[in-house]
Amino acid sequence: MTEPEISEAMIFECFAAAQEKDSIEQTAASFVDVEEYENQIMYPEFARWAEKAGQPELASLFRKVAGEEKLHAVWLRELYEDMGQPARGEDTERAIDALKTIRANCDALIAMNPDGVVEKALAVAISVEEREYQDIYPRFRDQALAQGDQNAADVYQRVVDSESQHADWFRSALDQFRATMATPALA
Ligand SMILES: [Fe+2]
Ligand SMILES: [Fe+2]
Repeated sequence: MTEPEISEAMIFECFAAAQEKDSIEQTAASFVDVEEYENQIMYPEFARWAEKAGQPELASLFRKVAGEEKLHAVWLRELYEDMGQPARGEDTERAIDALKTIRANCDALIAMNPDGVVEKALAVAISVEEREYQDIYPRFRDQALAQGDQNAADVYQRVVDSESQHADWFRSALDQFRATMATPALA
């Protein structure tokens, strides 16, 4: 029997659906959508995996972060009331489709190696959060500052601070998870 294999790259690819567009406004609009699918799809799915793997505390952490991603979407959407309503929905749709294609695989893998799947979910969550607080949102902030839009820059900075905190929480959770795992996960 062949073991179903899911790599961090596959999971990341599945959820890192936001697209870099021609203009910063279009890219930012894409990230409104990203915040919403992190809230509705990605982190709830990671919470489901953690529950199945017998890790209710990690499931709670994923749900707590999911709730904060919703806040980010609200903040960004408020920003867009001035800029015009962004086109939305494509990234969420893409994430839903991608999730469908890996879900059966995920469930099979969770049954065989629950710790491995949870460890990968945490690693992907860290990558997603790092990309946002180190790259995406600082760029939006700097762009807003360059355009003299202090209000938008402040909102983006708030998102940077929050995503940075999420990355810290997930890093601590991953360290703790690895320290308490009964057997080290095989690569
Ligand atoms: Fe976020
Ligand atoms: Fe986040």
